[in-house]
Amino acid sequence: MFPERFSNLPAYAFPRLRSLVDAHAPGGAVLHMTIGEPTHPFPDWVGDVVAEHAHEFGRYPPNEGTIELRQAICDWTQRRYGVTLEPERHVMALNGTREGLYNAMMALCPEEKAGGRPVVLLPNPFYQVYMVAALSVGAEPVLLPATPETGHLPDFGAVPEAVLERTAVVYLCSPSNPQGAVASDAYWRDLIGLAERYDFRIFADECYSEIYRGTPPAGALNVAHVMGADPERVAIFHSLSKRSNLPGLRSGFVAAGPQSMARIKQLRNYAGAPLPLPLQRVAERVWADEAHVEENRRLYAEKYALADSILGDVPGYVSPEAGFFLWLPVEDGEAAALKLWCETGVRVLPGAYLSREVAGHNPGQGFIRVALVAPKDEMARGLGALRDCLYA
Ligand SMILES: Cc1ncc(COP(=O)(O)O)c(C=O)c1O
Repeated sequence: MFPERFSNLPAYAFPRLRSLVDAHAPGGAVLHMTIGEPTHPFPDWVGDVVAEHAHEFGRYPPNEGTIELRQAICDWTQRRYGVTLEPERHVMALNGTREGLYNAMMALCPEEKAGGRPVVLLPNPFYQVYMVAALSVGAEPVLLPATPETGHLPDFGAVPEAVLERTAVVYLCSPSNPQGAVASDAYWRDLIGLAERYDFRIFADECYSEIYRGTPPAGALNVAHVMGADPERVAIFHSLSKRSNLPGLRSGFVAAGPQSMARIKQLRNYAGAPLPLPLQRVAERVWADEAHVEENRRLYAEKYALADSILGDVPGYVSPEAGFFLWLPVEDGEAAALKLWCETGVRVLPGAYLSREVAGHNPGQGFIRVALVAPKDEMARGLGALRDCLYA
């Protein structure tokens, strides 16, 4: 009576963490450094915009987003990436990127590729929706290690030709969760080149693109544009959750070639969950404002500096290039997370909960993920306790 295809899914990371630690008393004041829920302030006018448009809760929202919101998104991609997109053909509003990353697969993955079952390539560790999306369309997920040895991004050059031929979709997260690694212009160029050669699509999960230090990360859209690649090759996914500290707004967008977009929109007409109109109005205003994003980056810069000062000399410590996670090497992530909880009350996520074992090796096993989202003074306490407990 139930589908087999999801039978091997492990429990989601957070229930797994609860099973690991909740039977034990915390060894100090509880501090959550697990979930990547931003806590910096969002613009204070957000509530006013909702109130101003509250009467529009009485209307069905347009599935693809209002034209004004799509225009604001196109203005943003123009400013950020120097690429001109058309609101009617190239972009669609999402109810957060997670649903978009899932639904784009439903809309765009073919039943067959090169006479066989299509392959979806994903990094390992990875954001968990990628795997479920691949399984939902009956594709074969192929996990590529993203480890210190590969610069924390998958080595697509190492994928066998027979696999590339069957590849229909590649998920790539840059800046990456959990490692905070950034795909360079050259990296994107190589991947898009492979996509052109082997006829696959790239789903670029760029929801951390605005949390960076120094130079803004390259994006798949502008690299593909400069290369003159087929516009259908790349779909980019962006979010207000991290950029603007609005995870509860559930607002993001996907931008892609016109044919891909038409397919995604068509499916959405049947089965989509569009963003309520007053929230679309908020999103429109938020994409148009950069002042709060700059302030957000400044606050994260302080946190990176704090993490560097507390953990900088830990062997194997890599200061994240972007995003808001530390991916810290330990002997065993589960044992470390449990010890930390029992001795200090600090809660972190075992790396293996974000990755899968392939050929007897789980690339997340020797790591913990630490979210840099708590207020700075709490973070200082948490990171200090973590250092004393795990690296003394
Ligand atoms: C890598 C990655 N992609 C996508 C998302 C989804 O974000 P949202 O649905 O809030 O836009 C997250 C959220 O944590 C994430 O870490």
